[in-house]
Amino acid sequence: MDQSLERFIKGMPKIELHLHIEGTLEPEMMFALAQDNGIQLPFANVEEVKEAYKSYDGLKEFIPLYLGGMNVLQTEQDFYDLTMAYLKKVKSQNVTHTEIFFDPQGHTSRGVAFETVINGIHRALKDGERDLGISSKLIMSFLRDLSEADAFDTLKQAMPHMDKIDGFGLDNPELGHPPSKFERVFAECRKTGKPVVAHAGEEGPPEYVREARDLLKVSRVDHGDRSLEDPALVKDLVAEGMGLTVCPVCKVKLKQSSIINAEGKPDMKLHQLKTMLDLGLKATVNSDDPGYFSAYITENFLAVAEALNLTRDDIVQLSRNAIDISFLSPEEKKQKHGELDTYIKRADIIEARINSSAGTLLQAM
Ligand code: HPA
Ligand code: ZN
Repeated sequence: MDQSLERFIKGMPKIELHLHIEGTLEPEMMFALAQDNGIQLPFANVEEVKEAYKSYDGLKEFIPLYLGGMNVLQTEQDFYDLTMAYLKKVKSQNVTHTEIFFDPQGHTSRGVAFETVINGIHRALKDGERDLGISSKLIMSFLRDLSEADAFDTLKQAMPHMDKIDGFGLDNPELGHPPSKFERVFAECRKTGKPVVAHAGEEGPPEYVREARDLLKVSRVDHGDRSLEDPALVKDLVAEGMGLTVCPVCKVKLKQSSIINAEGKPDMKLHQLKTMLDLGLKATVNSDDPGYFSAYITENFLAVAEALNLTRDDIVQLSRNAIDISFLSPEEKKQKHGELDTYIKRADIIEARINSSAGTLLQAM
């Protein structure tokens, strides 16, 4: 790909809005924690895990592995270490703000206390803010394949920790578990005054996106790709400036139908991110589960930019969208847009210098 665009993407200050902290578990950490905690893994070594994680046949194959990986997380320190490892990694990719999901039911269901999970993650987020300069929001996500009653019980457990929770979400296999199943839980969540979001239109139909918007009253949609199948829905989403947290590499790794080419292979060239931008949708780029998909936010930007021939203006638009649809305050958003303006000016100066020194070099030859 064009080297100046690659430099621009790598150096750009970034905001991530769709990241499952449990999905950042790298095979090496999985093995180290399994050993510390005396957990038997269904893999003999790190290479076997990497082989298993090359691609998945949709969410139905991915989610059991993702939930299985959680078994190695036992102590508060494990949750701290997992979160801190993610923050350090994305610090090197110039992420300045991140909004992360955690799945408490994936832990409480196997006997790990709610407070063990949230205290470990929260402490790492606070340390990350102080030591790495990365601000963050924490979104508690419900597992949609579990019952409404289980979600209500989880919300009850979360109540003493509302100072550490910034919003609520909905994830896990989508088909057969429409947002309407959680209408009453989300009404209760909204009473806290915090924003709500939901995975919708990843594998589920556009109708699920409508339900997320109309019944759950989400302030943004996670994934949302299948909204494009319904032009009237697209029109509404554009009109209200609804954000979509798109995860390009995830789509390829999960072999989702809209990116399958004529030979039956997943192909990033078929990703509809550029179409979303052209339609005026507030789409953003995110990593989802980078430990399982081998791609953090920068690799997601690079892969989709290369496949779709995105321009620097497209990349800037994606970043501006992320600022706009984040949970940051209006003042913080203004500051983030200012940081991006400064970065663009600096990048222009650097590129001009590179071009002029290349020119001088050519003349001297
Ligand atoms: N979709 C639904 N649930 C998830 C995902 C996802 O991409 N990642 C982790 N849980
Ligand atoms: Zn997700």
